[in-house]
Formats: sequence, structure tokens, C-alpha cells
Amino acid sequence: MTLSDGLVTLRPWSRDDARFMAEANADPAIRRYNGSHDRLGHPTPPLSTTDAEAVIDQFALNWRAFAATGTPSGAAFAILGTRSGELVGCCGVDDWSKEDVAQFGYWIAPDARGRGYATRAAILLTRWLFDVGAARVFLTIVAGNEDSVAVARRAGFVYEGTMRAHGVWQGKRCDVMWFAALPLEWAMRRPDEETQRATRRRPAGDRGTF
Ligand SMILES: CC(C)(COP(=O)(O)OP(=O)(O)OC[C@H]1O[C@@H](n2cnc3c(N)ncnc32)[C@H](O)[C@@H]1OP(=O)(O)O)[C@@H](O)C(=O)NCCC(=O)NCCS
Repeated sequence: MTLSDGLVTLRPWSRDDARFMAEANADPAIRRYNGSHDRLGHPTPPLSTTDAEAVIDQFALNWRAFAATGTPSGAAFAILGTRSGELVGCCGVDDWSKEDVAQFGYWIAPDARGRGYATRAAILLTRWLFDVGAARVFLTIVAGNEDSVAVARRAGFVYEGTMRAHGVWQGKRCDVMWFAALPLEWAMRRPDEETQRATRRRPAGDRGTF
């Protein structure tokens, strides 16, 4: 399963990507917002390359389950620059409910941020989730994670509210914001156009190359 808009490509993870995943997983922001943590919000140790291989093996099993059931729970894509083939991040389906509601998440390696990869990946993944039958797609974002809020907005998601004290990080409760997209409404919001507008707003020298 490969998705692309000509600038960004999403494809399943391969074991060869394990080192990239392990290095990215050591980034404090990815550990904070994507990594697993215990019930008091203390993060689990960073992934070794061997741990990352096990995560990728699990993704492969989730893809096989998708082929059998049509439900992509736990299916994850590596995000690459299409032209360069450079690995830049991850996006994946955290959950698919029995009511066909999908939740997904994403991260971008620190040195690839600010180039639009996350927004483009979120748009590609959302379109694919609707294509495979999602009735609603949502994201949860810890309040204060402004970079991620900007991705959700650029990708055409609607802010639905804040669940107070819904999360915990290092012993302190934190608020969690909800963003969602519904198929018809999302198509009318035209997130692709939003992305192009974001690109135009940036001075040419600031723009990353894909
Ligand atoms: C959240 C996160 C994925 C956002 O990454 P990002 O690189 O800021 O987001 P994008 O890839 O959409 O890039 C956006 C920037 O690129 C610019 N850009 C350039 N070309 C663009 C394009 N074609 N489309 C959209 N934006 C583009 C935008 O204007 C924006 O720049 P600005 O920040 O100066 O306004 C990243 O900060 C991250 O991985 N954080 C840690 C983990 C995390 O928080 N995950 C999310 C959990 S909910």
C-alpha cells in the first residue's frame, strides 16, 4: 500500500528503517507526544534498533490483518520525500472502532520539520481512511502542542473541544484537544488548497525541498 501526492510518499515500514525509527524515538518531543508511557506519564525507555524492528514486525502483522478484515487498526506508514526517498517520519492508525471511527497520529524527525511533510501526510492518510470506509477521522493533541495543532488545522480538521485533565505527563494531568474530519465536510474544506496557501505564505528561502 503506497500513497503519494507527488511530493510526499507514504509506504509501509520495512525492517531496514529500524535505525531511523530508533533514532527518531529518542527525540524528546516524539517521546513526549507519541511514545508510550506508564499510568503516571513516565515514558518507557527509548527504542533500541532491535525494539524498533519488533515494532515494524507488528506493523506488518497489522497490515496483514487489514488485508483479511478491511480494518486498518495499527497499520502505519513511513513518510518519505518522494523525490529524495529520504525517510522523514511516521503516521499510523491508532484505532478503528466498530462504528468505523478512525484515529491516527504522526511524527516527523526533528531535522525534517517545517517543510510540510506532516500536513501532506495527514491529508493523504485522511483521504485513504475515508476511501476505505471511515465515517469519521479524529486526532487527539495534548494542549500546548502548537505545531501539531497547526498540522490538524492545515489538514482541514475541525477543533471539537478540549477534554480537561484527560492525559498525564510525568505525574501532572494535562488537557487534550480533539480535532475531527467528516467525509463530506472535509472534502468541502479542501485541505489541499490550504496546504498550497501555507506554502505560498512562506518566503521562498524558508521553503524546504522535498
Ligand atoms: C507535530 C509535528 C509532526 C509537526 O511537524 P511540522 O514539520 O511542523 O509540520 P509540517 O510538516 O506540516 O510543516 C509545517 C511547516 O512547513 C511549512 N510548509 C512548507 N511547505 C509546506 C507544505 N507544502 N504544506 C504545508 N506546510 C508547508 C508550513 O508553513 C509550516 O511552517 P511554519 O511552522 O513556519 O508555519 C512535529 O513537530 C513533530 O513530530 N512533533 C513531535 C511529535 C508530535 O507532536 N506528534 C504529534 C502528536 S499529536
